[in-house]
Formats: sequence, structure tokens, C-alpha cells
Amino acid sequence: MARKFFVGGNFKMNGTKGSIKSIVKGLNEAQLDSNVEVVIAPPSLYLQLAQAELTKAGVAVSAQNVYDKPNGAYTGEISVAQLKDSDIHWTILGHSERRTLLGETDEVVASKTKVAIDGGLSVVWCCGESLEEREGGNTIAVIERQLSALAAKVSGADWAKIVIAYEPIWAIGTGKVATVEQAQDVHAAIRKWLRANVSDAVADATRILYGGSVNGKNCKDLAKEQDIDGFLVGGASLKPEFIDIINSNL
Ligand code: G3P
Repeated sequence: MARKFFVGGNFKMNGTKGSIKSIVKGLNEAQLDSNVEVVIAPPSLYLQLAQAELTKAGVAVSAQNVYDKPNGAYTGEISVAQLKDSDIHWTILGHSERRTLLGETDEVVASKTKVAIDGGLSVVWCCGESLEEREGGNTIAVIERQLSALAAKVSGADWAKIVIAYEPIWAIGTGKVATVEQAQDVHAAIRKWLRANVSDAVADATRILYGGSVNGKNCKDLAKEQDIDGFLVGGASLKPEFIDIINSNL
């Protein structure tokens, strides 16, 4: 089954009006592979700026997070309805930085994912293990635990709105990208779990992205792997090489 290649740029808490305008201008003017779906995720403050500046077909703006309650007394949070009101149709959820720094549990991430999808958003759902978990031989067990929490909340049709991002925590922001074999092994295990616990159709259709120190050089070899359907990019999404990563499947 042909899965459309997908590349997300997670700007994290980086950027200014000027730098985000510059990144979007670069995307608007770039030659991009027409067979790639692209989302860029600036900080919430700049979602509408990015939306207003973006003219490139095939590129959408995504939030980095959303709350799982309707509008109301939740200081500092943003609701699904407010993202939809701003014509934002994507969000990243469960990034390891929110799981580790802000204590988002598997269940909270799963609940946010269900609420986001029910409210009309598509979701880049993140999973990944720590170095200690990998070195302890627990990588697959951790990923399957995270997947199980998600599957307890979402139903069959919801999966069409989910893109999975495998981001080994030890590779995020470290320059220590996973080897092609390490990444493919976990991606294959995720697809195997989907096949066994959800359905063949969901296993075959779900895009599984790799994230963690992806750059313009290592993306080509990673993109060749059968179960790597794209990337979730942090630091490199702020640089011109983000275009090379988008075109890495050409
Ligand atoms: O969400 C993507 C991010 O966690 C990867 O960060 O800087 O290692 O590409 P980076």
C-alpha cells in the first residue's frame, strides 16, 4: 500500500515573527516534492501568522499541543475549538518533552488525541523510549504500552486521523540520530502491533514518522526504509535543510 510521505516541522519554543515569516517564505518559494504532506508547528502565538503567510500547496500549519477540555477556566491552555476557529487542522500530541517535563501520562495523551480527533483535528501522536529504557532492552515494551493507552481511547475510524511519530528520547536534540536499523526495527514493531491489535487496514495505512536529530544528510538513508514514512523534525526544521528533508523521498 502506498502511504503518502509526511514531514512535520516542530519548531518547539523557537522563533520570532521575523524568523517564522522567513521560514514560511522559504517554503512558499521552494520546489517541494508534490507527493509529500508537510505540516509546520510554530509556537501557538505564531499559528495565525504562519497561516496568513503560507501560500504553498501541500503545506499546513499545526499546533504543538491542545487541551482536552472545551473552552473554559483552563488558564494558559488552548482548546480544539479555538484551533478550528483559527483554521488550524493539525496538532502534535504526546511529545516526549511534554511527557517528561510536564508529566503528560499515556492516558492524558490518549485522551487529548481522542478529543482532538472528535473535534475535527488530525494528530501527530508521539511515542518513544529513554536511553535507560533502550539500554534495559525495554524499547518495544515502552512503545507498546504507549500504543495500548492510545488504542483504549480511539476507535477504528479515528486511526485515519493519526500519524505516529517514533522519537527515541535519546536522539532528540542530541545529534545522535538512530541508526537506520534501529529506526526501522521499531517502526516495523509499531506496524506489527497495529496489525495485531487494530487491523490490517490501519497497519497498512498509518504513516509512521521517525524523529530525533534528523538532518539534510541522514534523511535520505532513513527515508529508504519500508516502514519509515517520513519525519518529525525539530532543530533542522528551522534551517534551509528542512527543504532537503521534505524532498528526501524523491
Ligand atoms: O518533534 C521533533 C523533535 O523532537 C526532534 O528534535 O531537534 O532532534 O530534530 P530534533
